[in-house]
Parts: sequence; C-alpha cells; structure tokens
Amino acid sequence: RVIEILKVLEEDCATPIGKLRQVADAMTVEMHAGLASEGGSKLKMLISYVDNLPSGEEHGFFYALDLGGTNFRVMRVLLGGKEGRVVKQESEEVSIPPHLMISGSDELFNFIAEALAKFVATEGEDFHLPEGRQRELGFTFSFPVKQTSLSSGTLIKWTKGFSIEDTVGQDVVGELVKAMERVGLDMNVTALVNDTVGTLAGGRYYNPDVVAAVILGTGTNAAYVERAHAIPKWHGLLPKSGEMVINMEWGNFRSSHLPLTEYDHLLDFDSLNPGEQILEKIISGMYLGEILRRVLLKMADEAAFFGDSVPPKLRIPFIIRTPNMSAMHSDTSPDLKVVGSKLKDILEVPTTSLKMRKVVIRLCDIIASRGARLSAAGIYGILKKIGRDTPKDGETQKSVIAMDGGLFEHYTQFSECMESSLKELLGDEASESVEVIHSNDGSGVGAALLAASHSQYLEDSE
Ligand code: BG6
Ligand code: GLC
Repeated sequence: RVIEILKVLEEDCATPIGKLRQVADAMTVEMHAGLASEGGSKLKMLISYVDNLPSGEEHGFFYALDLGGTNFRVMRVLLGGKEGRVVKQESEEVSIPPHLMISGSDELFNFIAEALAKFVATEGEDFHLPEGRQRELGFTFSFPVKQTSLSSGTLIKWTKGFSIEDTVGQDVVGELVKAMERVGLDMNVTALVNDTVGTLAGGRYYNPDVVAAVILGTGTNAAYVERAHAIPKWHGLLPKSGEMVINMEWGNFRSSHLPLTEYDHLLDFDSLNPGEQILEKIISGMYLGEILRRVLLKMADEAAFFGDSVPPKLRIPFIIRTPNMSAMHSDTSPDLKVVGSKLKDILEVPTTSLKMRKVVIRLCDIIASRGARLSAAGIYGILKKIGRDTPKDGETQKSVIAMDGGLFEHYTQFSECMESSLKELLGDEASESVEVIHSNDGSGVGAALLAASHSQYLEDSE
C-alpha cells in the first residue's frame, strides 16, 4: 500500500519534457494576455516603472529595506559611481514575529519602522549625509503591488504567510511613511520595488547581460526586461530606453498542464489564500515540506507507514519545513542517518527502518523535482517570450538570469535539477548562451541603486 501511494504520487507529479514545453508555452500565452490588458490573465504582468536599469554610475548613500522573504532586512550602502561600485555596505536581519504577519497593518509597519530607526541610529561616520539632506530609501516589498509610480503603489493581495486585511488596497509606501512618522524617522522613500525587480537591478549592476531575475525562496516569482512596445496596456509615455521591467507574479500562474495532486488541492484548500498562487504552492520553499508532510500523513493513516498509530506531530501543518526536507534529501550516508534523526526530531518517531528512510528520500525527490522542473519551464517560457531561446545566426549575445532565494541557495538538489532541466529544454546549442547566476542579496543593493537613480537630489549632484 505504501508503494501504491508512492506510485500514484510519482505519476501525478510527472514532468516529462513534453509537459514542460506545454507549461512554457502556456506561460508565454499568459504573458501576452497579461501585458495586453489589466486583468487579462492570471499573470498580472505588473508594470514596475523601472525603465532604466543601473548603469554603474549611481553614487551616494542610500538605505534599503527588504520585506517579504524569510527575514526582514535593513541595509545602508555607499555607492561609489563608476570606479567605486559598492564602497561600503552594512545590513541587519530581523525576523518578523509570526503574529505580526496576520494582525493589523499599523502593527506590522510600526515594527518595521522601529527596526529601521534602530538601525539608522547605528550609522557611522563613513556614511556621511550632506548637510540639509533627507535620507533616502529603496523599499523592497515582495508582494504583488499595482505601482502608481516608481515610489508608490497599492497592495493587490498578500501572499506567502502574510494576511493582513487592512493593508490590501492601501499604498504601502504611505503605510511605511505613516509608521516612520510615528517613530520620528525622517526619510524619503524614493523607490518601491518587488524583490524580483530589485534582484534584476542588482544583477544588471554587475553583469550587463542580465535580462531576467527569478526568486526561488519562501515564494517564487520572476521579473524581466520587456520592450515597451510589447506592452499594450501601458498608456504612459514611451520610455527613452524603449524598455520596461515587468514583475510577472508568476506564482499565481495556473494551467491545465500543471501536474497537480490530491495533496496540492488540499493544501490549497487549507491555505491562507485558497485558489491563488497555485504555481507557487508546488514550487516554493514555503510549501515543499508541507506537501511532504501531507504525503507522509496519508501513508501513516492508510498504510501504517509509522506502525499502528500515526505520530501525533505529523498532524501539525507545516511541521516539516523545507530546509529539513533538503537536509534529508541530501543525506548520502549508507544508512541514511540524517533522515532517521530528522524524523526522530521533528515527528518524534523513535526508530525507522532503512526501507522507510528510502521511501522518504524518494518522496523528497519526487516533490522537489517537480518544483525544480516547473521553475525551469517558467524560465524557458520567459526566454521564448523575449526571443532568447534559440541562438540567432552570428549572434553571440548572452542571456543571464539572476537568481536568489533560500530554495535556490540552499537546496542543492533543487537548484541542480532546475539548471539541468533548463539545459534540457534549451538544447545544447542554446544552453551555451544562457547562464544562471546567483545574485546574492542582490535585491537590497538593487533597491538602493534604484533609489539612487531616482534620488530627489539627482540634479544637484550632477
Ligand atoms: C533574499 C532577497 O536574498 O531572498 C530578498 O534579498 C528575497 O529580497 C529573498 O525576498 C527571497 O528568499 P527567501 O528564501 O528569504 O524567501
Ligand atoms: C510571492 C510574492 C512575489 C514575490 C515572491 C518571491 O510570490 O507575491 O511578489 O516576488 O513571493 O518573494
């Protein structure tokens, strides 16, 4: 019976190359639809108002704030212009108390503003602010936002573990500014960016061939550089660069081609946002461990996988976190002792046989490979959309994808599988011109860079 459950899971999660191509094609179709009109697709294809990526000439001293990943982060950077690049960078990570993710808007933004104020108080002499100037901040806010300018935008909905009703529909910069006023912090929010957009900007700063950025972390999403002409829903002036960065919000993608299982349907049903973020729920770090738990629970319930009784801990949602799954998955010891000890620590199962441990590894592999292969299909879809999926005659242009997020960084099997699947989709020749790089914490620097290129003092310093 255990084997039966495993087999069904394997079949339901299967992602043969043909299916990945269908997913990629469906993704490009939805990209077109989302660019054509507001609400035209599950893919929001949000206009970021970033029509100029960093040139390397940005200079000055800026703050950045990063909300929406595993940790909330504050940062200050000193940008040195052409020669200097990032001269100095200091940052601090603060974890958000879980109750603040589901309470009120003021509570959350007060907490952020207080942490920022504390960080500003530690500013040293290296970060010199010219007389009479206000500090400026790039705000990375990793949720879907309908931007009304580069430095303002309303929250469309929360995703991942956040759910705070009174923020929805509000200008998130306004919420932050109000909280900063409450704590007596005087700062100008110069840029509001999604983490994908920040990562794209940070990636481009160091590598001119970066054309897209993908986050594989708690959530998942992508941003890329689109031709302004190819955005029918954009009625503003045509940017000088002819380009516009689009925040796809691909986590909300869904398609009949997606391999979904009974576990996914139930996970979605029980989630904070049922019916939404379907791709995110089968790819990203917030959910992979939870899918594993649900399969193990079924095995325990229906096939006595852990013996006569079901370990009570196994009934607790989200008790198996993706980093634990990754640790088990990468266990190469002959008796799979990491798997044994994790099951013991997390589920309080005193002993497990080697056979059981092997089943667990197999489950990790099935669940992670599906997510990794689907993220490769998404990237391939973007490359197709911008015509970078096949090498053009005589062209040697590289296309670089800047990646970030805990899943990409720490779950080796996942990122290796993603990269090999992308190669498989592209074929040998095209693979040569596509490169995936890790842009570590690029979004913080990216937000600071965008704050710099949109500084209120820009004219003065030129
Ligand atoms: C960080 C970026 O490195 O990765 C954040 O600076 C981003 O902007 C985060 O949100 C995503 O990863 P995770 O795993 O923290 O959700
Ligand atoms: C979620 C958010 C999105 C963000 C992604 C990665 O999908 O909706 O805005 O980019 O997580 O953090």
